[in-house]
Amino acid sequence: MEDKINLLNEKKALALLGGGAKRIEKQHHKKKLTARERINYLMDEGSFEEIGMLVTHRTSDFGMEKEIYFGDGVITGYGTINGRLVYIFAQDFTVFGGALSETHAEKICKVMEMAVKMGAPMIGLNDSGGARIQEGVRSLGGYADIFYRNVQASGVIPQISAIMGPCAGGAVYSPAMTDFTMMVEGSSYMFVTGPNVVKTVTNETVTSEELGGAEAHSTKSGVAHITSVNDVECLEDLKRLLGYLPQSNKEIPLSLPYVLGEEIRMKLATIIPENANKPYDMHDVISGIIDEDSFFEIHKNYAENIIVGFARLAGRSIGVIANQPLYLAGVLDVKSSKKAARFTRFCDCFNIPLLVLVDVPGFLPGTDQEWEGIIVHGAKLLYALSEATVPRITVITRKAYGGAYDVMNSKHIGADLNYAWPTAEIAVMGAKGASEIIFKKEISEAEDPAAKLLEKETEYADLFANPYNATQRGFIDEVILPQDTRRKLIKGFRMLENKVSVTPIRKHGNIPL
Ligand code: COA
Repeated sequence: MEDKINLLNEKKALALLGGGAKRIEKQHHKKKLTARERINYLMDEGSFEEIGMLVTHRTSDFGMEKEIYFGDGVITGYGTINGRLVYIFAQDFTVFGGALSETHAEKICKVMEMAVKMGAPMIGLNDSGGARIQEGVRSLGGYADIFYRNVQASGVIPQISAIMGPCAGGAVYSPAMTDFTMMVEGSSYMFVTGPNVVKTVTNETVTSEELGGAEAHSTKSGVAHITSVNDVECLEDLKRLLGYLPQSNKEIPLSLPYVLGEEIRMKLATIIPENANKPYDMHDVISGIIDEDSFFEIHKNYAENIIVGFARLAGRSIGVIANQPLYLAGVLDVKSSKKAARFTRFCDCFNIPLLVLVDVPGFLPGTDQEWEGIIVHGAKLLYALSEATVPRITVITRKAYGGAYDVMNSKHIGADLNYAWPTAEIAVMGAKGASEIIFKKEISEAEDPAAKLLEKETEYADLFANPYNATQRGFIDEVILPQDTRRKLIKGFRMLENKVSVTPIRKHGNIPL
């Protein structure tokens, strides 16, 4: 018996060593934690249980039968984070550069299937040189097996990918199909084809970091939702993110205990500038409304003209979508529409109520936007909000102009409660543009056209630059004082808690992609 136990312990000890001390040192030298260190940091102490520790690859080509490492480059299993069950895989760069073999993929698929069956989040810590080159198409098959399971799990359990090293070629498509992609600054990169291929095909000279580092993907492409300065911060951010999410689509997110007080926030009353053309920071409105320090922003540096993120309101998790007047006056464009649409769909999948704060002058004009397909991309947001059945509340703080008024969670597309501040201007367009069109003749024939324009502009603004036309028709449920917003929202979301929406039977809708 003792021999047998010794044999087991030997194998386990070897597995714990991964690719060996030298390669671990190399990993540390790159300021990266090893796969095991990452799991240990992320999970509640002592909670991690490994599955498939002694799995090995089955390849004998290229002398691979002599290169056997227990675990085969990926650590898989389950454990808890803040007491809640999660499933995880962490690729071990010290074993074949974390490259994905047939068995490596099988291990990942096994835990993914368990996560769906048990209804708990699936976390992937990616750090891999891609397909295991020695295995050829078997490795590609393994990727596809994972992709397929990503799609089956989509909307059933939250799936989060942290990119903590290389992630290239086909490997990128699993993170892309999960709900959130996080990247570590400086040590991670993602691309479909690397700098060498880019040079050959397009003659562009670019580094891995420039092409697919955390900065490129969090500012230019929007592939990364969250970036963090190092491994530890990334894992901390991951824990924080999970705190806002339910375990699966069958649950509602965890509420924190909260005792209701007076809930009046006077500082909200002084945010909107006197001059309607002056910008202000919508973050101030968000932080004025929500529980203190509870905002967790997603896509912080991408399409900054719209803000999306999770927050808590009287302890409950909500999703916030808000136009940001500080960037491009808060217009909707291709990128911001896609950003907000994706976020809306996530919240709707996972029973997270939506708060939409509106200050939008319209859609961004120009050939660039039209040829990029703003029609289709704007439609994504319109579609996503229209189909969302979670509780939805809108607050118009200032402008709600044109088609963008409709898109931004208007009553007409199914919002449950629509509020406006007294500073709201709900109209087809701004007073100047409107006057130039409808009083064109009068203005051009006037002795002093500029003075006439101003007169007409004031006339139009008096009539339409307010929330009352919309309120009279019931498009706005109530004009509320800014300082009352938090109180109204707490009551509103509580009232909507048991909302039931019956939707038509269909296979799935056809969102404009
Ligand atoms: N398949 C098999 N082994 C791989 C691998 C792959 N795709 N990628 C890396 N490895 C192995 C290396 O042979 C090396 O093995 P060793 O420790 O026995 O020397 C180890 O992983 C580490 O790789 P190394 O190249 O030394 O690390 P690096 O940090 O300098 O570079 C990469 C990392 C990912 C940039 C580089 O390894 C690479 O370009 N890999 C191939 C990427 C690729 O084309 N993948 C296939 C298409 S998806």
